[in-house]
Amino acid sequence: MGLERFRVKTPGIGALLARSLLCIIGLLFTFSPPVCEAFNLDVENPAVYSGPEGSYFGYAVDFYLADSSSASVLIGAPKANTRQVNVTEGGAVFYCPWSLSQTDCHTIEFDTEGDRPVTLNETQYQGDFKSHQWFGATVRSHNDTILACAPLYSWRTEKDARLTDPTGTCYLSIYNFTRFVEYAPCRTEISTEEGQGYCQGGFSADFTTDGKVVLGGPGSYYWQGQVISASKEDIIKAYYPGYFIQSVERQIQTKQIRSVHDDSYQGYSVAVGEFSGDQVEDFVAGVPKKQKMLYGSVYILNGTDLSTMIEYNGEQMGSYFGSAVATADINSDGMVDLLVGAPMFMVRGSDGRLEEMGRVYVYLQRSPLDLELRQPHLTGTQSNTFLDFCLLVDVAISCPYGGEDQQGLVYIFNGYSDGLREKPSQVITGQWAAGTIPASFGFSLRGAKDLDMNGYPDLIVGCFWCQ
Ligand SMILES: *[C@@H]1O[C@H](CO)[C@@H](O)[C@H](O)[C@H]1NC(C)=O
Ligand SMILES: *[C@@H]1O[C@H](CO)[C@@H](O)[C@H](O)[C@H]1NC(C)=O
Ligand SMILES: *[C@@H]1O[C@H](CO)[C@@H](O)[C@H](O)[C@H]1NC(C)=O
Ligand SMILES: *[C@@H]1O[C@H](CO)[C@@H](O)[C@H](O)[C@H]1NC(C)=O
Ligand SMILES: *[C@@H]1O[C@H](CO)[C@@H](O)[C@H](O)[C@H]1NC(C)=O
Repeated sequence: MGLERFRVKTPGIGALLARSLLCIIGLLFTFSPPVCEAFNLDVENPAVYSGPEGSYFGYAVDFYLADSSSASVLIGAPKANTRQVNVTEGGAVFYCPWSLSQTDCHTIEFDTEGDRPVTLNETQYQGDFKSHQWFGATVRSHNDTILACAPLYSWRTEKDARLTDPTGTCYLSIYNFTRFVEYAPCRTEISTEEGQGYCQGGFSADFTTDGKVVLGGPGSYYWQGQVISASKEDIIKAYYPGYFIQSVERQIQTKQIRSVHDDSYQGYSVAVGEFSGDQVEDFVAGVPKKQKMLYGSVYILNGTDLSTMIEYNGEQMGSYFGSAVATADINSDGMVDLLVGAPMFMVRGSDGRLEEMGRVYVYLQRSPLDLELRQPHLTGTQSNTFLDFCLLVDVAISCPYGGEDQQGLVYIFNGYSDGLREKPSQVITGQWAAGTIPASFGFSLRGAKDLDMNGYPDLIVGCFWCQ
């Protein structure tokens, strides 16, 4: 089995508070049964998981529901040290079986090797550069498969001059931890900044309902960025240990376009959803630095050929519109809707100064390829940053450095027939005192899955610097 036991004793929150050795993270909240119509998260009894200090445990989180009888949580720790020989802070992903009484986590053994050598002209060179690769910065699950990526992984290109390119790489755990395969679609012969050398593939990722992987690589082609997709089965078939370059059948990817699109970061965020009314799920790609004026864009890409079907632009320069995207049927009309975050949206405060409040845009799908931007937008009310979303029946929006002491806040907004309610129904505050570094409660969020099988969805909130 590809699991290594990771021992932490977590006798409870009170005791955790006093432990400075551990970084506490990954909180689980459960919804309590509905009173009236609004759902309510039970914030009194969160399950708390923790990981090694300084490992950024909680930077990424997801559910893992491989079979109907058990549920668990996946937690990325991109700065964790591993047993890989001569690799420093390679990063890890932890598997934490869900239970209120025990909060033991195990590292998942996606990759146990150190840096592999590569032979060029009969001379051996270091082929991989896995130290500080941020493995676990992106984590997503689908059934009994887990995708985890290292967007800052580099490799020695097969060029003559010594070149290392941060292409990024991903691994899949398949068949419930029994096999592991690597998927590094940007590790190609088209190297350097002008090609896919700076791709950072896996900076963002998602799965379609039927198990296709979609990756964002915001650094390809002079940071135009790109979106790449292939089915799980084709990735497994193409994997051959020891080969750096693999060719995955039926893989699709967006291509290089005109140089005015350089530095726009397509694929900084990705999501999936059916927007064209056919049988093939489509992709949403955030392009937060699109255009010279940096207004940012979001593309809805055809899931079959990745052509852009719809493009939305941000309304304020530098607002990073598109750095977070999410899809869900907010108004329960059977069609998926789109949420776009602009975390650096500025608003003039009461004292007349511009402050970064952040803004979230809701686009309701009325019919295929026809989305309506709802007004008013959700705008932050205090200087903080909307960073991640997560979709339940309702929507959770986090502000990792929000709140009076920058402890982090998570807002729950209820959906209704015409979009999202303007006022949050619930606000969850980070429970840990802020240190010198903001706590980042809410940096990662996942929801809409039921862990404790009480019939109500649960929410995981990651906090990678809670003390
Ligand atoms: C690890 O690094 C040391 C020092 O650079 C080197 O001597 C040793 O051969 C390396 N081990 C492996 C397995 O690469
Ligand atoms: C989930 O995985 C199991 C075991 O591999 C498989 O039998 C089942 O069809 C999968 N379900 C989906 C929805 O892919
Ligand atoms: C490999 O050999 C070729 C031809 O002899 C030479 O041009 C090239 O520079 C060599 N590459 C490396 C990495 O030494
Ligand atoms: C999946 O793996 C976990 C961890 O090893 C194990 O507890 C669970 O029973 C497995 N599930 C199935 C369906 O094999
Ligand atoms: C999506 O792409 C496929 C294949 O190119 C094409 O047949 C289909 O019409 C496209 N759908 C839309 C809505 O553009």
